Amino acid sequence: MARKKITVVGAGNVGATLVQRLAEMELGDLVVVDIPETKGMPAGKALDLMQSAPIYGYDCSVVGATEYGPTKDSDVVVITAGMPRKPGMSRDDLLKVNSDIVRGVTENIAKHSPNAILIIVSNPLDAMCTVAMRASKFPKHRVIGMAGVLDSARMRCFLAEALDVSIENVHAMVLGGHGDTMVPLPRFSTVNGIPITELLPKDKIEAINVRTQNGGAEIVKLLEKGSAYYAPAASAAEMVESILKDKKKILPCAAYLEGEYGIDGIFVGVPVKLGSRGIEGIVQLNLTVEERALLMKSAGSVKELVGALK
Ligand code: NAI
Ligand code: 2OP
Repeated sequence: MARKKITVVGAGNVGATLVQRLAEMELGDLVVVDIPETKGMPAGKALDLMQSAPIYGYDCSVVGATEYGPTKDSDVVVITAGMPRKPGMSRDDLLKVNSDIVRGVTENIAKHSPNAILIIVSNPLDAMCTVAMRASKFPKHRVIGMAGVLDSARMRCFLAEALDVSIENVHAMVLGGHGDTMVPLPRFSTVNGIPITELLPKDKIEAINVRTQNGGAEIVKLLEKGSAYYAPAASAAEMVESILKDKKKILPCAAYLEGEYGIDGIFVGVPVKLGSRGIEGIVQLNLTVEERALLMKSAGSVKELVGALK
């Protein structure tokens, strides 16, 4: 059986870390692309990763490039190209610069890999998904945004710490846009099936919700230069794996909604089924009036941003 082909665009912090994880997971042959100005950087990182293969024992090729020829006929393409957030800068400040980057990248990808499934990482995430869908003209099930897996992983991490239980037992659900209005859902967050609302007092849960919403900013502040990349890369890798192994995991991802949750014409984070065809279904949770209002508010801020796109 021929190996699958995965392209990662952007060989920066998220992109390079993702390529490393994908290689170690042996999910397919890898191509990592950056801009010509980066010269030998993508090829250098690729070669370095190839030289890790004898130690880890992964059989896949890793190629670095500054043009799109080597990406031809990729099965999955992850777009991490763009500027990261700097301290004091909101994700939304990135709108203008990153929409030009994501548009250009996506046009190249669509030309070389017309059947690929796209996973968008670049910020502001939900708006960049719209840019990618418009530029690729791909059907909605083949354009997916990575945010909810990361935001939920952050919430899981804080919950496991607060409850002093194994991280493996903790599941969490964070929906909405990838911004300050994201919606952590304690009712759908569990420890081995037990809702956290039965395990933690209200004020503790509220503190974890807020820390989750500020999860990206907390890391930006600590790093002082750049934003998070280990957990973002791990999150994108989980999505690639679910697609290429047709695992059909239910994961919170940014999906183009056409009426689901009463939202229309934008990408918003909702639970989706991820399999070999991309988004194979959207799970409609039975939300309370309050949860629904929070989701609509978050969708409202995504809509505003999408309206500001050219
Ligand atoms: P980085 O600065 O380390 O890497 C970005 C790379 O993109 C650089 O190597 C740059 O040369 C490259 N690039 C810029 N324009 C390009 C183009 N036209 N074609 C190909 N490559 C291009 O940044 P980092 O930390 O890797 O973050 C990348 C993006 O991902 C940022 O927009 C960041 O905000 C976003 N992000 C999103 C997350 C999410 O949850 N959705 C989580 C973490 C980061
Ligand atoms: C994060 O949440 C920067 O969006 C990125 O870490």
